[in-house]
Amino acid sequence: MSDFDYDVLVIGAGPGGYVAAIRAAQLGLKTACAESRETLGGTCLNVGCIPSKAMLHASEYFDAAANGAMAKMGVEVTPKLNLEAMHGQRKDAVKQLTGGIEFLFKKNKVTWFKGRAAFEDAHTVKVGDETVTAKNVVIATGSSVTELKGVEVDNDKGVVVDSTGALELAAVPKKMVVIGGGVIGLELGSVWRRLGAEVTVVEFLDQLLPGMDGDVRKEAAKIFKKQGMELRLSTKVTGCTVKGKKATLTLEPADGGESEALEADCVLVSIGRRPNTEGLGLDAIGLETNRRGQIETDHDFRTKVDGVWAIGDVIPGPMLAHKAEDEGIAVAENIAGQTGIVNHAVIPSVVYTWPEIAGVGLTEEQAKEKAQETGVKVGKFPMLANSRAKTNHEPEGFVKVIADAETDRVLGVWCIASVAGTMIAQAAQAMEFGATSEDIAYTCHAHPTHSEAIKEAAMAVTGKPIHI
Ligand code: FAD
Ligand code: NAI
Repeated sequence: MSDFDYDVLVIGAGPGGYVAAIRAAQLGLKTACAESRETLGGTCLNVGCIPSKAMLHASEYFDAAANGAMAKMGVEVTPKLNLEAMHGQRKDAVKQLTGGIEFLFKKNKVTWFKGRAAFEDAHTVKVGDETVTAKNVVIATGSSVTELKGVEVDNDKGVVVDSTGALELAAVPKKMVVIGGGVIGLELGSVWRRLGAEVTVVEFLDQLLPGMDGDVRKEAAKIFKKQGMELRLSTKVTGCTVKGKKATLTLEPADGGESEALEADCVLVSIGRRPNTEGLGLDAIGLETNRRGQIETDHDFRTKVDGVWAIGDVIPGPMLAHKAEDEGIAVAENIAGQTGIVNHAVIPSVVYTWPEIAGVGLTEEQAKEKAQETGVKVGKFPMLANSRAKTNHEPEGFVKVIADAETDRVLGVWCIASVAGTMIAQAAQAMEFGATSEDIAYTCHAHPTHSEAIKEAAMAVTGKPIHI
């Protein structure tokens, strides 16, 4: 008989936490999960991946009807926006998926403690009024929006909003300013641009999408500009005043200089996210966070405190749902005495704009830096020369395969294409299996598919694509 109520208590039911809890239960461990939200699924299912994709998908239909893309294919329609219905289908998707996790918890006998959790000691956690003890505690508390000094978010008012507010706007703003040209800014900026807003993106750096391949960042900027987004790069926001339903932002060049005013009906603050550790009682167990507020772990997701583990957005690495999920599986397997591993070198990332932007592995810049002695070879193939993309009137973008010049091992793959998010899965799998560019080039790809562009880019690594 164990001295603890549970073998495993997971704090947080986002994609990291709920997956860890289900896997632990599947492995025969008595498992509970503490979650303070009214519904399970964390940021991702409630206010992140899922509702944003619901709005992106629906607005893409509207845009295709409104901007002539459908007419090009002989389908002439004049779209009428029913924003309430669009929000309705978003809420429906969230309800169904969060309810699905509750069903899976019941099915796998995971106990949900609804409330905020705080450590009393390494094996004792207070959740609301209840005290729960567990042999292992997994911290999966995720992340929250980073605030910008001088720009106060008020989602209820709908003038200055964060990503949660931007998902729920009751009307299409005439002029929207997005602060931060990262993933959230471009995805949610795209939603409202497609529905009729004039969108300006203010980005501190001289390029959009930090962390992505240089060519991809340049091409993305060209595409978004062509779609009508105004990009103010190398620019920072230093203040904001709100009067009634209008905001006035103060802008300055990133490295200082004369300020200017910019008016908007809606301002989206999307300058990054920060780990959730406040109020968790980390002091009580002697666990410190690093300079970026993250909890450090070893390769097995153990923290410095015995019996306490951590995964997902609260630990270092990309803040992505699939990374959190894979860590959830691995941590549960490690707790059960198995060997749970996540290969952090092969985590794909996707921006769900139109076209989609995706990558896995190293950027060309990182690869050149890393393979200084052997060098790198790069193969590129434009989507314009891919028969399916061309037939579908989707000429924008390219695929880029980066390989080690000596071993030919694939180091990174980057795509801009309408279905880049789906295409990148094969690149991730190839890299996971240690593929060379030649392996991809000699793999038979179905025709006509967008994926053939990956094969041709791989062929281009050694200079022999067929269709350009
Ligand atoms: P979270 O999902 O943040 O879950 C943590 C949970 O812990 C929360 O529900 C919180 O309420 C709970 N919690 C926190 N503290 C406590 C406590 N003390 N007690 C009890 N409960 C607590 N990623 C992708 O991969 N693809 C996407 O398309 C994508 N789109 C996104 C769109 C938006 C608008 C946003 C904001 C994010 C998006 N992300 C996307 C990122 C993704 O949502 C996160 O990487 C992912 O949710 C992290 O999972 P997690 O389990 O670590 O934490
Ligand atoms: P981000 O880190 O992607 O982008 C923030 C941008 O804001 C950066 O380009 C940064 O240079 C800029 N910035 C920072 N301070 C600024 C300032 N004061 N003025 C102007 N620009 C400033 O963060 P974002 O977009 O908020 O997303 C947060 C996280 O959520 C990301 O890390 C991402 O991993 C995750 N996410 C993932 C999605 C996906 O996988 N499709 C979708 C949405 C979010």
